[in-house]
Amino acid sequence: MPDTHVLVTGANGCIGAWVTRHLSAEGTAFTATDLAPEPTRPRLLMPEEEVAALDWRALDVTDTAAVRRLVAETGATHIVHLAGLQVPFCKADPALGAAVNVTGTVNILEAARHEGVRGLAYASSLAVLGPPELYPVLPVPDNAPTAPSNLYGTYKVANEEAARIFAADWGVGSAGLRPAIVYGVGRDQGMSSDIAKAILAVAANRPFHVRFSGPLSLQHASDMAEMFLRAARAEPEGAIVCNVRNSVTEVARVLGILEEIAGPHQVTCEEDAPLGVPSDLSDAALKQLIGDIPHMPLEEAIAQDLAAYRDLMEREAIDLTQLDR
Ligand SMILES: NC(=O)c1ccc[n+]([C@@H]2O[C@H](COP(=O)([O-])OP(=O)(O)OC[C@H]3O[C@@H](n4cnc5c(N)ncnc54)[C@H](O)[C@@H]3O)[C@@H](O)[C@H]2O)c1
Repeated sequence: MPDTHVLVTGANGCIGAWVTRHLSAEGTAFTATDLAPEPTRPRLLMPEEEVAALDWRALDVTDTAAVRRLVAETGATHIVHLAGLQVPFCKADPALGAAVNVTGTVNILEAARHEGVRGLAYASSLAVLGPPELYPVLPVPDNAPTAPSNLYGTYKVANEEAARIFAADWGVGSAGLRPAIVYGVGRDQGMSSDIAKAILAVAANRPFHVRFSGPLSLQHASDMAEMFLRAARAEPEGAIVCNVRNSVTEVARVLGILEEIAGPHQVTCEEDAPLGVPSDLSDAALKQLIGDIPHMPLEEAIAQDLAAYRDLMEREAIDLTQLDR
């Protein structure tokens, strides 16, 4: 897209690193930002010369003036806002969680409002929903009532509601995407990173225990990154919130695929420990916004991840202590 400039927040996170990789491969003009001063996760996914060429800026999304300044300075036309603290970090420090997840998102909405940003996609989460028994209609529609069961989900609901008011009062369009469980290289923190770590453990031939079991919906980080980019570029009008679906499966099936591809392994999962959120989600709103949904089949994605992890291990480029927790 000519005359566009994409600004990414949380670019050193798992999804952000994949967004960075896609934008870099496209040759698009973009600025990658994160609290982290160095692009450590993009380095797992991209050749060093591409990493060295990044326009990488340290940006704390809780800093209202700095966010506004950088959006103005870069002339950002589109924003993919991914900076955030995950469930355990919000629980450990609720005030910091609110500052990053809620104030940070309001700062992005404010910058979008004042700096004429044309397309904004931000990360909400499946955690805005409550336990599966609250949702008798399957697949769960995009407009099903929210009922978060942790602070993190509550903060994400606050963001969806703030986006609704920014659209109503000032015409700021946005799409809030609700990933469920993202896996892929770079997913190394947060409880639901256990799926990505299970794949890494098989590649490393190490024991690992997934702390949950039962049904879940999985999105590969590469697909999720593309969804965010396409949602921003769709230049949504109004405040849209979208469930995300992709691979609806079971933890046991993931372990089975790992065995089919790599042979017997040492990865187990907790018995009778469901995640407590629905897994069968409608992605109708997302389809309406971006058309066909990027979706690598689970078997193919797991095989690709195994190969990528093995390559990183061979180059001693990945930290296996993440498997120790
Ligand atoms: N990974 C998932 O399964 C999942 C599921 C649902 C929603 N999400 C949401 O998607 C977004 C990205 O997820 P992820 O898995 O890439 O997360 P991640 O934890 O890997 O990355 C988050 C990034 O945000 C950055 N960050 C933290 N505080 C910041 C601040 N004050 N200013 C700027 N950057 C800051 C961190 O440095 C990190 O690089 C998050 O908002 C997350 O809540 C993720």
